[in-house]
Amino acid sequence: MKIAIYPGSFDPITKGHLDVLHTGTEIFDKVIIAVAKNSEKKSFLTVDERVNLIKESVQHLENVEVDSFEGLTIEYAKRKGAQILLRGLRAVSDFEYEMQLSQANSALSSDIKTVFLITKPKYNFISSSTIKEIFLNGGDISKFVPAPVEEYLNKRNKC
Ligand code: COA
Repeated sequence: MKIAIYPGSFDPITKGHLDVLHTGTEIFDKVIIAVAKNSEKKSFLTVDERVNLIKESVQHLENVEVDSFEGLTIEYAKRKGAQILLRGLRAVSDFEYEMQLSQANSALSSDIKTVFLITKPKYNFISSSTIKEIFLNGGDISKFVPAPVEEYLNKRNKC
């Protein structure tokens, strides 16, 4: 059984992430989308909020598990019995960082391979920061995030 881990901050999950995840589910038997508890990155949503929003956004996908983890991604992948780390590439600018990350992970464990999927062009410019900026300035984010994220952020904003 080919299990892939799709790690990231997902703060919040976007339609770009879902695009990568969806393709991953067609290639692998199971994809575990895992929110990394990254203390170095200032977060907008808590880990629990992000996990819950991902769960609501992936209900239509059967072979997806949603989780969170702390520490090294590679160690988490080993614990989950995964052979693959799944990452999305939006533009050439992602490449250098992703190459370093994948080489570091490969040096830590050569058994686990990183597979890159290219995001659809219409999602190329999306990042969680762009979405937060549009949202916090009153813009419409419905084109960029799944419905549960939009609904949750709008509700949270009114409180
Ligand atoms: N669609 C939309 N946005 C995308 C995207 C896509 N397909 N792919 C990446 N992004 C965006 C994210 O929204 C995020 O935007 P932001 O910076 O505005 O928040 C940005 O690209 C990068 O985010 P992400 O893919 O979540 O990566 P990250 O750098 O936050 O985290 C980890 C990467 C968690 C996988 C990595 O840091 C990690 O493995 N950490 C654990 C410790 C470890 O093992 N380190 C490696 C060994 S040294």
